[in-house]
Amino acid sequence: MVTTEAVPFAKSGGLADAVTALAQELDRAGHDVRLLMPRYYGIRRDQLFRFPSPLRVQIGEEHYESAVYEGRLPDSEVVVYFLDHEELFGRDGIYGVGGEAFDDNLHRFTVLSHAALTIGPRLGWEPEIIHSHDWPTALVPMLARRGQSSAHQPATVLTVHNLGYQGSYPVGMLPKTGLSWSELPESGLLHHDELNMLKAGILNADMVTTVSPTYAAEIQTPLHGFSLDQVLTSRSERLAGILNGVDYSLWNPERDHHLDVNYTAETVALKERSKSALQTELGLPVTNDVPLIGTVSRLVSQKGFAELLAPGYGALPTVLTEMPIQVVVLGTGEPEYEYQLRRLSDRFPNLTAIIGFDDGLAHRIEAGADFFLMPSRYEPCGLNQLYSLRYGTIPIVTRTGGLADTVRDVTPEGGTGIVLGHACPSEIINGIRRAVTMWKESPNQIAAVRRAGMKERYAWESAAGHYLEAYARAISYRASV
Ligand code: ADP
Ligand code: GLC
Repeated sequence: MVTTEAVPFAKSGGLADAVTALAQELDRAGHDVRLLMPRYYGIRRDQLFRFPSPLRVQIGEEHYESAVYEGRLPDSEVVVYFLDHEELFGRDGIYGVGGEAFDDNLHRFTVLSHAALTIGPRLGWEPEIIHSHDWPTALVPMLARRGQSSAHQPATVLTVHNLGYQGSYPVGMLPKTGLSWSELPESGLLHHDELNMLKAGILNADMVTTVSPTYAAEIQTPLHGFSLDQVLTSRSERLAGILNGVDYSLWNPERDHHLDVNYTAETVALKERSKSALQTELGLPVTNDVPLIGTVSRLVSQKGFAELLAPGYGALPTVLTEMPIQVVVLGTGEPEYEYQLRRLSDRFPNLTAIIGFDDGLAHRIEAGADFFLMPSRYEPCGLNQLYSLRYGTIPIVTRTGGLADTVRDVTPEGGTGIVLGHACPSEIINGIRRAVTMWKESPNQIAAVRRAGMKERYAWESAAGHYLEAYARAISYRASV
């Protein structure tokens, strides 16, 4: 697998969780899985093994020499190769800082993608599959086909974790990818007069996957296709939607070491202690009379933050004014949303906003909140709602993508959460009103919904089985070229 994120080394969102958990699960099933990723500044080298000689990558006329370090994913045999190149990766931030993308990302991730094809021969190790994730490594399938007899090249799989990020660049930047102008027409890179890395990946990969069945269907429509819907539809036979799982060794209230008090479905009453600890930590009044609603998220429009925060019509000021609730938001992202959150946090004593990235606090919010709010405009899979189910924290989600596949709206017959029709302020306000009414009037229903959620399991074992099927299909397509 070639990736820009993997826990515990580098994380901006769910991609990091998904890549590591999938690799570990495939390893447990007996497969030889290795990861290639950049060595960002934050990844310490002192515990890693350094290859005696550098890896040379040729891109057009230029060549790049990177040191390669080797480590392992925790609790596994999965080898991780870190590409160490000061000019490309020796900086803070994975894709950028302060909401601004680095302007050399095309270049940085092109070198990583070329390295994915160069490192195998250097090690005398020939993978049957190279699995890329998202646009930064979506050039790999094209490179794997290029000018080679394909029978001798690895089969390729591309997973689209988020179609909203495509890696679009001016056509004049083609030389940065290492392709020549004569290769452009066949490369699949051209899209609306720009280079589009994700499109090239979708068109060249032997198999394309995305992270939930509903999202796989949605991205083939103009509404959620981000202008690539027809490209995806043209490959629909090679497109599979595989729901992510949860790493329950990390996200489990019974054993979570970030919590002072652990609890199970049987002792869920102890969850109240997590709530009061969280309220104390956040400087909120310690009370169980009002529900505590939590959010942990990248602060971007995908996640519904315009609908929550936009001055004049955003839902958050309304619910904070009109309803007996407390709210905690943990996140980083677009400066505009960070600014609005800080402002609202100063204005409303029942809101605490923490602008930052804090894994421990993310766990304590999952445990201490009563409801978890995720009003996404679109959501390829979403992991936080799955964590919430496990922690007995009732998710409030929109009916889209992976959220639609994993949360069942509460009715008198049952259900696991509150499902909104779509992301808009009035739906969010109504959803939170439903939550407050349930909290005040139906403690038995709260208990039943919690129990139902805590019973759900999204094991990586089953997801990994689907990936193995996708890999087998990719290999057979490659063999038949
Ligand atoms: P996405 O990948 O689109 O950001 P997911 O729900 O799939 O959304 O995954 C988000 C992951 O990132 C979760 O593990 C969540 O806890 C984590 N996360 C997001 N923002 C923060 C933050 N500010 N601090 C800690 N963890 C965060
Ligand atoms: C992306 C998506 C998210 C998904 C994650 C892991 O970041 O936005 O929905 O859960 O990737 O696949």
